[in-house]
Amino acid sequence: MTMNRAGLQRFATAAAVFGVAVAGFWLWWLPRPDERLPSREPAAAIERSTAALVPLPLVPDLPPDRVALGRALFEDVRLSHDNSLSCSSCHDLTTAGHDRRRFSVGVDGALGSVNAPSVFNASLNFAQFWDGRARSLEEQAAGPVHNPLEMASNWDEVIGKLQADGHFWREFRKVYPEGLTAANIVDAIATFERTLLTANAPFDRFLRGDLQALDAKALGGYRRFKELGCVSCHQGVNIGGNMFQRFGVMAEYFGDRGHLQIAAADLGRFNVTGREEDRYVFKVPSLRNVALTAPYFHDGSVAALEDAVAIMGRYQLGRQLSKEEISSLVAFLNSLTGKLPVSLQK
Ligand code: HEC
Ligand code: HEC
Repeated sequence: MTMNRAGLQRFATAAAVFGVAVAGFWLWWLPRPDERLPSREPAAAIERSTAALVPLPLVPDLPPDRVALGRALFEDVRLSHDNSLSCSSCHDLTTAGHDRRRFSVGVDGALGSVNAPSVFNASLNFAQFWDGRARSLEEQAAGPVHNPLEMASNWDEVIGKLQADGHFWREFRKVYPEGLTAANIVDAIATFERTLLTANAPFDRFLRGDLQALDAKALGGYRRFKELGCVSCHQGVNIGGNMFQRFGVMAEYFGDRGHLQIAAADLGRFNVTGREEDRYVFKVPSLRNVALTAPYFHDGSVAALEDAVAIMGRYQLGRQLSKEEISSLVAFLNSLTGKLPVSLQK
């Protein structure tokens, strides 16, 4: 059989198309590289499906003299007007870095208007305070000193007291040659706070490849956390703390709260920007160590983690979560409890 030129060309084209199809099928059929990894290990598979959550880093190397000075200042009652309170009065470092109260109690018994968040891992949040009004830990530290409902003091008063203490003054000069200034005080406190990371929670060990670190229930909770969409707001290294969101996306939380009048603090980010769309908008809190930091929400209105999760389902996702869903989510949240930094372990 002979073929003319046009016939040969048609044959060549058909062969090329067939070749590409075979190669394509072969490539498609070949297992993807990760499918060949630990044979369909479910834990590995769900871990691969997200890049949203990453393990907590270890404590960074920071000048030890500044860290030590920052810790001393954090525990120094002279930062409050009547020498009755230190930062650690409301952020207890021996537990979870908060005060277990609904609202904190300041100088002269003044009652605050929001729940105290933990200082642990706060350095990893993109902004500080529920409404994000401080951009950095340095900016944050001036807040409680001046807040009439907290330490009710001011830098002149604080520096005056610290300067009168010859020993403290000399020690301070060794670390900061320019001496006692508000900027140096907040620098030392913020440097100390950057060491307050609670690494090696079971979930972090899991993310680093120890697939046994989560039991089946916590693993189921992690899968739900992603499938239900909790992870769309609670994400990143702090599993929260990297965006602002409205409290009450799918239903009116504040309308339903009933027993509590809407207070100024409930307006959230609106108090900072004055923009209507920021009403009831808050920094999404980190869920690290959340099992230890009851009561929950900026209004400290919820005592049990199960109830906080149910409220999230209803108001943030528009879902009535079942008992089983809630308890597996809580098992996952329990796996976010880390270890105190070595310097604070007894
Ligand atoms: C009287 C109790 C009280 C004292 C004292 C206090 N705080 Fe707080 N702290 C709070 C409360 C309440 C908030 C939340 C305020 C808000 O969001 O508006 C807070 C928020 C913070 C935050 C923000 C955490 C986050 O995730 O947004 C940091 C960091 C912090 N405090 C550090 C300090 C430091 C440092 C000191 C000492 C200079 C201090 N606090 C003193 C009660 C206190
Ligand atoms: C649309 C964003 C969004 C989604 C989705 C979301 N959350 Fe939240 N979450 C928030 C915000 C904002 C807050 C803070 C509310 C407040 O107190 O003002 C919060 C608070 C919490 C708290 C309380 C933390 C504390 O320290 O007080 C828990 C626990 C929590 N969320 C768990 C979950 C779980 C579990 C899911 C999924 C079922 C979920 N969240 C879904 C935005 C969200």
